[in-house]
Amino acid sequence: MEGETVEVAGLKFTPYLSQSQIASRVGRVAAEIRSYYAGQELPILLCMLNGAFVFAADLLRALQMEVEIEFIRYSSYQGTASCGEVSEILGLRQPLRGKRVLVVEDIVDSGLTMARLMQELERQGAKEVRIAAMFTKPEAFRGNYTVHHVGEELPNRFVVGYGLDYNGLGRGLPELYIRTE
Ligand code: IMP
Repeated sequence: MEGETVEVAGLKFTPYLSQSQIASRVGRVAAEIRSYYAGQELPILLCMLNGAFVFAADLLRALQMEVEIEFIRYSSYQGTASCGEVSEILGLRQPLRGKRVLVVEDIVDSGLTMARLMQELERQGAKEVRIAAMFTKPEAFRGNYTVHHVGEELPNRFVVGYGLDYNGLGRGLPELYIRTE
């Protein structure tokens, strides 16, 4: 129930943003995005699985723009010693060369995951890459790039709900919860 502490996979979390607060953030982000692309070639939305599917579903409906959406998974793994780290985007069904891309992400924390994804999108020849993140943690951010559209800046603490998980659980909570100190 809204307003109460919850337990997810053995950890306690306290309510942080209500459903209506989240909805107003999504509405504002959608308005920003609409105004940025007004009268211009529209982007392909790239929804980063797993966490961003909830935000992407709300954002897409709030946007009211004729846009395509693709669901991608970013996989990064250690290759052989000589190759070092190999990264790849899974799920892309169309080439991005020359396209405008809007990455839809649940949370940008240190920003390392997004930095690698952006490198990969640029390598694929995307014409423009912008980022919409429902949440950021500015104190933890170590990237040297801009997150263009942000729903809410959070303190540097662990959160669950609204698509975000702890050990695979908690994604279905409609509010955002922060780890109880
Ligand atoms: P980054 O590479 O440090 O920016 O981490 C990004 C990814 O870590 C996100 O896409 C989330 O999957 C996960 N993550 C970061 N912070 C949290 C959190 O507070 N709760 C749940 N997942 C998180």
